[in-house]
Amino acid sequence: MKVITFGTFDMPHIGHVKILNRAKELGDHLIVGVSSDDLNLFKKGRKPIYSQDERMFLINSFKGVDQVFLEESLELKREYILNYKADILVMGDDWKGKFDEFSDICQVVYLPRTPSISTTSVIEVVKTNHFDQEELTSQKN
Ligand code: CTP
Repeated sequence: MKVITFGTFDMPHIGHVKILNRAKELGDHLIVGVSSDDLNLFKKGRKPIYSQDERMFLINSFKGVDQVFLEESLELKREYILNYKADILVMGDDWKGKFDEFSDICQVVYLPRTPSISTTSVIEVVKTNHFDQEELTSQKN
């Protein structure tokens, strides 16, 4: 059984590892569509920290991942699923219901997100700590 999933996977974290592991458990071949830098700018309003080549390299290095490709458009999901002959589409439940239209060509499974972690929250923590450090440095000088 081939499983396909999609995402940005910027600054990979525990939530990413868990969803990829759980996706792999549903079949025996896991394909990951890593969204392009341009698609992210469109989708999330910012460029990822890691480039698309770096993100594809990182995700391809995960034990359970068998194949990665660049997702260049949200409009092409059906083509990607058909081209890669996926039997199951896995998405995090932040997307619940949004991909039911593909249930005519594959099984659609939404898996629960890992609580309390996202790339956005990690960026916020790093930014806050950075500013705290700057404040400390300016107080010392
Ligand atoms: N994911 C998850 N648990 C999390 C974060 C993400 O299961 N805590 C899943 C998403 O549901 C998606 C995949 O990981 O299926 C890729 O998500 P992505 O949007 O790249 O990660 P986020 O951390 O949510 O990124 P951002 O904060 O930039 O939206």
